[in-house]
Amino acid sequence: MSEARNFLPEVETLDNSNVEAAYARWAPIYDLTFDILLKPGRRAAAAAASNARGPILDVGVGTGLELPMFASNAQVVGVDLSEPMLRRAAQRVRRERLGHVAGLVKMDATRMAFADASFGCVVAPYVLTVVPEPEAMLDELARVLRPGGEIVLVNHVSGKDDAIALFEAWLDRHMAPKLGWRPQFPWSIIGDWIDRNPQMRLVERRPLAPFGLFTLTRIQRCTNDTPRKKLPESAEFECT
Ligand SMILES: C[S@@+](CC[C@H](N)C(=O)[O-])C[C@H]1O[C@@H](n2cnc3c(N)ncnc32)[C@H](O)[C@@H]1O
Repeated sequence: MSEARNFLPEVETLDNSNVEAAYARWAPIYDLTFDILLKPGRRAAAAAASNARGPILDVGVGTGLELPMFASNAQVVGVDLSEPMLRRAAQRVRRERLGHVAGLVKMDATRMAFADASFGCVVAPYVLTVVPEPEAMLDELARVLRPGGEIVLVNHVSGKDDAIALFEAWLDRHMAPKLGWRPQFPWSIIGDWIDRNPQMRLVERRPLAPFGLFTLTRIQRCTNDTPRKKLPESAEFECT
């Protein structure tokens, strides 16, 4: 086993520069490869955003495949780290005359330029497994979200201890930087983040087609009217 390891490539970690490099490679073939496979999650995310009170932020908008799925009376802003992906999204907006898209901006989802509480809903289809620091991204999504609004995530969540989980762990160690995402993504990354943030509550967690490979997660930022989580006695947090 240790000898076999010597033949494997050096393990790199996923960082923004190799994510950008990976999506520069994916951009010309992204729609061909991922349009149909990932459509159910995009539809579910757009449907979950349909009750948003206020503008919708689409984080990691990519080539904009989900943009036509939002209601035509919505106001949607898309951000992405990859210029080649964003260029394709801009072409789609022009080609399909998507008047509800108010802007497309190059921005890192973990450090956005928007003011606190700017959006009524933040959607991130197939993005959380791509960013090197998912917890930092969740912090940032919560910051730009209005109280009462929802974060809507769609991403793969790994199972436990089966053959697929072992394969994902191998892929994760050796291929993540080249693929541009991490194949292994335990639920605890999202679950523990919710537990650490008492102003956030899990509204829905649902497997999606195809084959339950992806999960839709809705997380709400509390208002004074939302039932709060039961807090430990020492917690000082008050929902705003
Ligand atoms: C798998 S694609 C998903 C694109 C689109 N949401 C879809 O459903 O097809 C992931 C996208 O996240 C973007 N991304 C990765 N890291 C990012 C970051 N830190 N900030 C913003 N976008 C990022 C990538 O450039 C890529 O366009």
